[in-house]
Amino acid sequence: MTKSAQLTMTLEVFRYHPETDDEPRFQAYEVPYDEDWVVLDALNWIKDHVDGSLTHRWSCRMGVCGSCGMMVNGDPKLTCAAFLKDYFPRPIKVEPLVNFPVERDLVVSLDGFMDKLEAVKPYIIRDDVNDTSGGEYLQSPAELAQYKQYSMCINCMLCYSACPVAGHEDEFLGPAALALGHRYNKDSRDQGQSERLDVMLVGEAIWGCTFVGECTVVCPKHVDPAGAIQQAKAVGAQEYFKGFVMPKGAGK
Ligand code: FES
Repeated sequence: MTKSAQLTMTLEVFRYHPETDDEPRFQAYEVPYDEDWVVLDALNWIKDHVDGSLTHRWSCRMGVCGSCGMMVNGDPKLTCAAFLKDYFPRPIKVEPLVNFPVERDLVVSLDGFMDKLEAVKPYIIRDDVNDTSGGEYLQSPAELAQYKQYSMCINCMLCYSACPVAGHEDEFLGPAALALGHRYNKDSRDQGQSERLDVMLVGEAIWGCTFVGECTVVCPKHVDPAGAIQQAKAVGAQEYFKGFVMPKGAGK
Protein backbone atom coordinates (compact mmCIF):
# COMPACT_ATOMS: atom_id res chain seq x y z
CA MET A 1 0.00 0.00 0.00
CA THR A 2 1.33 3.44 -0.84
CA LYS A 3 1.42 6.34 1.58
CA SER A 4 -1.83 8.22 1.66
CA ALA A 5 -2.60 11.32 3.71
CA GLN A 6 -6.33 10.59 3.31
CA LEU A 7 -6.29 7.32 5.17
CA THR A 8 -6.88 7.34 8.89
CA MET A 9 -7.21 4.80 11.65
CA THR A 10 -8.60 4.82 15.18
CA LEU A 11 -6.58 4.74 18.37
CA GLU A 12 -8.55 3.99 21.55
CA VAL A 13 -6.37 5.43 24.25
CA PHE A 14 -6.53 4.85 28.01
CA ARG A 15 -6.95 8.17 29.82
CA TYR A 16 -6.71 8.79 33.53
CA HIS A 17 -5.79 11.99 35.33
CA PRO A 18 -6.03 11.09 39.02
CA GLU A 19 -6.44 14.73 40.11
CA THR A 20 -9.69 15.13 38.12
CA ASP A 21 -10.92 11.68 37.05
CA ASP A 22 -12.84 9.34 39.36
CA GLU A 23 -11.93 6.43 37.15
CA PRO A 24 -10.11 5.65 33.90
CA ARG A 25 -11.84 5.87 30.52
CA PHE A 26 -10.97 5.26 26.89
CA GLN A 27 -10.88 8.06 24.36
CA ALA A 28 -10.98 7.41 20.61
CA TYR A 29 -8.78 9.47 18.28
CA GLU A 30 -8.71 9.43 14.51
CA VAL A 31 -5.06 9.62 13.45
CA PRO A 32 -3.44 9.81 9.98
CA TYR A 33 -2.42 6.40 8.68
CA ASP A 34 1.12 6.12 7.38
CA GLU A 35 2.63 2.71 6.80
CA ASP A 36 5.95 3.94 8.19
CA TRP A 37 4.38 5.13 11.43
CA VAL A 38 4.60 3.25 14.69
CA VAL A 39 2.08 3.53 17.54
CA LEU A 40 4.38 6.03 19.26
CA ASP A 41 4.20 8.32 16.21
CA ALA A 42 0.40 8.26 16.43
CA LEU A 43 0.47 9.08 20.16
CA ASN A 44 2.88 11.95 19.52
CA TRP A 45 0.60 13.22 16.72
CA ILE A 46 -2.35 13.21 19.13
CA LYS A 47 -0.34 15.10 21.73
CA ASP A 48 0.93 17.66 19.19
CA HIS A 49 -2.31 18.20 17.25
CA VAL A 50 -5.31 17.17 19.35
CA ASP A 51 -4.71 16.96 23.07
CA GLY A 52 -1.52 18.21 24.71
CA SER A 53 -2.57 16.72 28.04
CA LEU A 54 -2.05 13.14 26.80
CA THR A 55 0.79 11.72 28.89
CA HIS A 56 3.15 8.97 27.74
CA ARG A 57 6.85 8.14 28.09
CA TRP A 58 9.37 7.80 25.31
CA SER A 59 12.89 8.90 24.51
CA CYS A 60 15.07 7.15 21.92
CA ARG A 61 12.44 6.05 19.38
CA MET A 62 14.77 3.21 18.37
CA GLY A 63 14.21 0.35 20.83
CA VAL A 64 17.10 1.25 23.10
CA CYS A 65 15.87 3.28 26.07
CA GLY A 66 13.02 0.95 27.07
CA SER A 67 10.71 3.78 28.13
CA CYS A 68 7.85 3.46 25.60
CA GLY A 69 6.39 0.11 26.71
CA MET A 70 2.57 -0.07 26.66
CA MET A 71 -0.19 -2.60 26.07
CA VAL A 72 -1.09 -2.57 22.36
CA ASN A 73 -4.29 -4.50 21.68
CA GLY A 74 -3.62 -6.40 24.89
CA ASP A 75 0.02 -7.29 24.26
CA PRO A 76 3.03 -5.66 25.96
CA LYS A 77 5.00 -3.87 23.22
CA LEU A 78 7.57 -1.17 22.66
CA THR A 79 5.35 1.39 20.94
CA CYS A 80 8.34 2.66 18.93
CA ALA A 81 8.53 -0.80 17.34
CA ALA A 82 4.79 -1.51 16.86
CA PHE A 83 3.90 -0.50 13.30
CA LEU A 84 0.41 0.80 12.45
CA LYS A 85 0.47 -1.31 9.28
CA ASP A 86 0.42 -4.48 11.39
CA TYR A 87 -3.01 -3.46 12.75
CA PHE A 88 -4.55 -1.35 9.95
CA PRO A 89 -7.47 -0.95 9.28
CA ARG A 90 -8.64 -2.25 12.67
CA PRO A 91 -8.61 0.10 15.67
CA ILE A 92 -5.68 -0.07 18.06
CA LYS A 93 -6.28 -0.05 21.80
CA VAL A 94 -3.40 1.51 23.77
CA GLU A 95 -3.19 1.02 27.54
CA PRO A 96 -0.52 1.39 30.21
CA LEU A 97 1.54 -1.70 31.02
CA VAL A 98 -0.47 -4.04 33.22
CA ASN A 99 0.83 -5.18 36.64
CA PHE A 100 2.03 -1.65 37.45
CA PRO A 101 0.23 1.21 39.24
CA VAL A 102 -0.91 3.90 36.77
CA GLU A 103 0.36 7.40 37.48
CA ARG A 104 -1.35 9.25 34.62
CA ASP A 105 -2.74 8.14 31.25
CA LEU A 106 -0.15 5.73 29.78
CA VAL A 107 2.54 6.32 32.39
CA VAL A 108 3.07 3.73 35.13
CA SER A 109 5.04 3.95 38.37
CA LEU A 110 8.56 2.49 38.23
CA ASP A 111 9.10 2.46 42.00
CA GLY A 112 8.46 -1.24 42.78
CA PHE A 113 10.36 -2.32 39.67
CA MET A 114 13.41 -0.24 40.59
CA ASP A 115 13.35 -1.63 44.13
CA LYS A 116 13.46 -5.17 42.74
CA LEU A 117 16.34 -4.38 40.37
CA GLU A 118 18.28 -2.86 43.26
CA ALA A 119 17.57 -5.83 45.53
CA VAL A 120 19.62 -8.25 43.40
CA LYS A 121 22.79 -6.10 43.79
CA PRO A 122 23.27 -5.40 40.06
CA TYR A 123 26.96 -4.59 40.16
CA ILE A 124 30.30 -6.40 40.39
CA ILE A 125 31.06 -7.42 43.97
CA ARG A 126 34.69 -8.19 44.87
CA ASP A 127 36.64 -8.84 48.04
CA ASP A 128 39.53 -6.70 46.78
CA VAL A 129 37.48 -3.60 45.97
CA ASN A 130 39.74 -1.46 48.21
CA ASP A 131 42.93 -2.72 46.59
CA THR A 132 44.46 0.37 44.95
CA SER A 133 47.40 -1.38 43.30
CA GLY A 134 45.68 -1.07 39.93
CA GLY A 135 45.34 -3.62 37.16
CA GLU A 136 42.45 -4.97 35.16
CA TYR A 137 40.13 -7.91 35.63
CA LEU A 138 40.70 -9.71 32.36
CA GLN A 139 37.90 -11.70 30.80
CA SER A 140 38.00 -14.07 27.86
CA PRO A 141 35.41 -14.01 25.04
CA ALA A 142 34.11 -17.35 26.35
CA GLU A 143 33.62 -15.86 29.82
CA LEU A 144 31.84 -12.84 28.31
CA ALA A 145 29.55 -15.17 26.39
CA GLN A 146 28.39 -16.71 29.69
CA TYR A 147 26.39 -13.59 30.62
CA LYS A 148 26.26 -11.32 27.54
CA GLN A 149 22.72 -12.28 26.58
CA TYR A 150 21.44 -11.38 30.05
CA SER A 151 23.17 -8.00 29.93
CA MET A 152 21.09 -6.85 26.93
CA CYS A 153 18.02 -5.95 29.02
CA ILE A 154 16.74 -2.37 28.46
CA ASN A 155 14.44 -2.39 31.53
CA CYS A 156 11.35 -1.91 29.38
CA MET A 157 9.26 -3.93 31.88
CA LEU A 158 7.30 -5.75 29.13
CA CYS A 159 8.23 -9.03 30.83
CA TYR A 160 6.47 -7.98 34.05
CA SER A 161 3.28 -7.22 32.11
CA ALA A 162 3.44 -10.60 30.37
CA CYS A 163 4.10 -12.56 33.57
CA PRO A 164 1.05 -14.13 35.28
CA VAL A 165 2.91 -14.17 38.62
CA ALA A 166 4.41 -10.66 38.71
CA GLY A 167 1.05 -8.93 39.12
CA HIS A 168 -0.15 -11.08 42.01
CA GLU A 169 2.87 -12.06 44.09
CA ASP A 170 4.70 -9.10 45.67
CA GLU A 171 7.59 -11.25 46.91
CA PHE A 172 8.39 -12.42 43.37
CA LEU A 173 11.35 -10.41 42.09
CA GLY A 174 10.20 -10.85 38.50
CA PRO A 175 11.87 -11.71 35.19
CA ALA A 176 14.11 -8.68 34.58
CA ALA A 177 15.47 -8.47 38.13
CA LEU A 178 16.17 -12.21 38.32
CA ALA A 179 17.85 -12.22 34.89
CA LEU A 180 19.95 -9.26 36.03
CA GLY A 181 21.02 -11.04 39.21
CA HIS A 182 21.90 -14.12 37.16
CA ARG A 183 23.87 -11.95 34.75
CA TYR A 184 26.19 -10.82 37.57
CA ASN A 185 26.38 -14.31 39.06
CA LYS A 186 27.66 -15.56 35.68
CA ASP A 187 30.28 -12.79 35.39
CA SER A 188 33.78 -14.23 35.92
CA ARG A 189 34.91 -10.96 37.58
CA ASP A 190 32.24 -11.16 40.27
CA GLN A 191 32.48 -12.72 43.73
CA GLY A 192 29.01 -11.82 44.99
CA GLN A 193 26.94 -14.86 44.04
CA SER A 194 26.25 -15.97 47.60
CA GLU A 195 25.10 -12.43 48.58
CA ARG A 196 22.74 -12.35 45.63
CA LEU A 197 21.42 -15.85 46.20
CA ASP A 198 20.59 -14.83 49.79
CA VAL A 199 18.09 -12.40 48.20
CA MET A 200 17.02 -14.42 45.19
CA LEU A 201 16.28 -17.69 47.00
CA VAL A 202 14.11 -16.27 49.79
CA GLY A 203 10.44 -17.33 49.77
CA GLU A 204 8.73 -16.65 46.45
CA ALA A 205 11.50 -14.31 45.21
CA ILE A 206 12.51 -16.81 42.54
CA TRP A 207 10.43 -19.90 43.37
CA GLY A 208 7.23 -18.00 42.47
CA CYS A 209 8.17 -18.46 38.80
CA THR A 210 6.01 -21.17 37.24
CA PHE A 211 7.97 -21.13 33.96
CA VAL A 212 5.11 -19.98 31.76
CA GLY A 213 7.78 -18.38 29.56
CA GLU A 214 5.79 -15.37 28.32
CA CYS A 215 8.56 -13.07 29.61
CA THR A 216 10.91 -14.56 27.05
CA VAL A 217 8.28 -14.38 24.29
CA VAL A 218 7.71 -10.61 24.69
CA CYS A 219 11.33 -9.57 25.35
CA PRO A 220 12.36 -7.21 22.50
CA LYS A 221 16.06 -7.87 23.16
CA HIS A 222 15.93 -11.69 23.31
CA VAL A 223 17.30 -11.73 26.84
CA ASP A 224 15.44 -14.97 27.68
CA PRO A 225 14.62 -14.17 31.31
CA ALA A 226 12.74 -17.46 31.66
CA GLY A 227 15.93 -19.36 30.81
CA ALA A 228 17.96 -17.22 33.22
CA ILE A 229 15.49 -17.93 36.01
CA GLN A 230 15.63 -21.69 35.45
CA GLN A 231 19.45 -21.60 35.46
CA ALA A 232 19.46 -19.48 38.62
CA LYS A 233 17.06 -21.92 40.28
CA ALA A 234 19.43 -24.79 39.46
CA VAL A 235 22.41 -22.90 40.90
CA GLY A 236 20.36 -22.07 43.99
CA ALA A 237 19.35 -25.70 44.50
CA GLN A 238 23.00 -26.80 44.16
CA GLU A 239 24.12 -24.21 46.72
CA TYR A 240 21.31 -25.25 49.05
CA PHE A 241 22.39 -28.90 49.04
CA LYS A 242 26.06 -27.90 49.27
CA GLY A 243 25.12 -26.12 52.49
CA PHE A 244 24.36 -29.47 54.09
CA VAL A 245 27.83 -30.88 53.44
CA MET A 246 29.93 -27.71 53.55
CA PRO A 247 29.49 -24.78 55.99
CA LYS A 248 28.86 -21.41 54.27
CA GLY A 249 32.15 -19.75 53.27
CA ALA A 250 34.15 -22.98 53.50
CA GLY A 251 36.59 -23.55 50.68
CA LYS A 252 37.07 -19.81 49.99
S1 FES B 1 11.34 5.12 22.74
FE1 FES B 1 13.16 4.12 23.51
S2 FES B 1 12.65 2.00 23.39
FE2 FES B 1 10.93 3.00 22.50
